[in-house]
Amino acid sequence: MTLRKPIIAANWKMNKGPAEASEFVAHFKLEAADLEKVEIVIAAPFIALSSITGKNFAVAAQNCSDKESGAYTGEISVSMLKEVGVEYVLTGHSERRSLYGETDLEVNAKNCQILDHGLKPIFCIGETLAEREAGNLKSVLKTQVTEGLKGICNEGVLNCVVAYEPVWAIGTGVTASPEQAQEAHAMVRGLIAELYTPEIADQIRIQYGGSMKPANADELLGLPDIDGGLVGGAALDPESFLSLVRSAVNSVS
Ligand code: 13P
Repeated sequence: MTLRKPIIAANWKMNKGPAEASEFVAHFKLEAADLEKVEIVIAAPFIALSSITGKNFAVAAQNCSDKESGAYTGEISVSMLKEVGVEYVLTGHSERRSLYGETDLEVNAKNCQILDHGLKPIFCIGETLAEREAGNLKSVLKTQVTEGLKGICNEGVLNCVVAYEPVWAIGTGVTASPEQAQEAHAMVRGLIAELYTPEIADQIRIQYGGSMKPANADELLGLPDIDGGLVGGAALDPESFLSLVRSAVNSVS
């Protein structure tokens, strides 16, 4: 089995402008030893991206256009993100799917656009409570994974990180149980093995997202198919986020 480097990402959502973002990174002190073991990413609002680049973590945007350039008022292209030092871009987040109507087709176009420019998608998937209760977990994940990765070659998929975020656990304080999380992660890895190869599936990192916090991070990050976290609320405070980074370090120590 491949040793996958854990990846802990903060998703600040619509929080922290340039001033607060600078304040956060000034308070966020990382140990060199931790940085070798864990990859740390901060997904900030567009206008705060330049305030957090050049530090010891990777910078992510929370969205991008699926177009190259042109008359798309209000949109931000992947090449513009690249110009300000962005390495990762979130795609398919449930808030974008449910509040802004993003479809699997658009998510796929964004994934392709990001990879074409040499950046890396953090591709989010996850079921609603109704879908889970109706017994549709696997079919929902299968559709999202298959459609979202359509046309992406072996080399491309190795540059993707997948984030499994059960919608019912996002911002609710309810976390998937270790059994539920491990089951879904193993399912996603299995789907990638079917679409690509078992060797590729073994290398892909799959983050858990949905009310991850210092109190549950050790347990979740200790599970065999969980390779990190995509964290909202608990990543807004530098001490809390640092505690999650330490849990990730401990998971591989
Ligand atoms: P919370 O950690 O606030 O539940 O948010 C999770 C999330 O949506 C990360 O993308």
